Amino acid sequence: MNKILVSLLLTLGICGAAQAAGEVGNPAAGQTKAAVCGACHGPDGNSMAPNFPKLAGQGDRYLLKQLHEIKDGKRVVLEMTGLLTPYNDQDLADIAAYFASQKGSVGAADPKLVAQGEALFRGGKLDQGMPACTGCHSPNGVGNAQAGFPHLGGQHADYIKKQLVAFREGDRTNDGDTMVMRSIAAKLSNKDIEALSQYIQGLH
Ligand code: HEC
Ligand code: HEC
Repeated sequence: MNKILVSLLLTLGICGAAQAAGEVGNPAAGQTKAAVCGACHGPDGNSMAPNFPKLAGQGDRYLLKQLHEIKDGKRVVLEMTGLLTPYNDQDLADIAAYFASQKGSVGAADPKLVAQGEALFRGGKLDQGMPACTGCHSPNGVGNAQAGFPHLGGQHADYIKKQLVAFREGDRTNDGDTMVMRSIAAKLSNKDIEALSQYIQGLH
């Protein structure tokens, strides 16, 4: 076979495979590239401040989706404005792989709100057609990494609360054409959100 044809086929084959699987992240390379993130998210992704989300142990598919959407402005994170511009697709995949490989820490729930939060998380609101959170985020809050359903367990309550309000008010709209989280959050009162956020903070 002609050399040019062979190299063309190889190139096409490699590109095709890379596109189908997406860039494969390298956690060790990601650790170096993520140095700047540590100031807010913690060097291993376990942030101390309640408004900065923990990234440690989050699913890499979900992380990568958020990184692309924050970079493109589809999800607005003012604190990260311009920060991701220097990173290419491979860099973002490496960073996602690094944080996904770290172990997430767990917080404590307000004992007064646990029972109400647990009832909503595990039972949903059947009378209003709102499904239980467990169906996608799993009973122990680890989510489903392959499906891109985020890990919630142990996340800061303040951050969870802000996201649920943002989905409800239409300030966060990157949950896809199905609007899955916007339609669920539409059924949640402020009290529901308070209880769910506390329950999730202690969930593991
Ligand atoms: C100045 C502080 C700051 C820095 C530095 C920063 N972030 Fe963030 N990041 C935030 C805040 C605040 C949010 C949450 C915004 C919100 O409430 O929606 C966030 C959200 C995220 C999310 C979404 C998390 C989720 O659970 O959906 C990811 C992923 C993320 N950051 C990755 C990074 C990476 C990777 C870097 C380094 C390249 C970085 N951040 C640097 C403040 C920061
Ligand atoms: C049918 C599946 C499904 C159900 C049920 C569901 N979620 Fe989600 N949730 C998702 C998906 C998918 C995302 C990621 C959206 C994106 O890509 O930005 C998400 C994202 C979230 C986030 C943002 C996480 C972060 O790190 O920023 C929170 C908080 C959340 N869900 C809470 C809940 C709660 C609480 C319930 C139950 C009241 C619930 N979800 C029910 C699918 C679901």
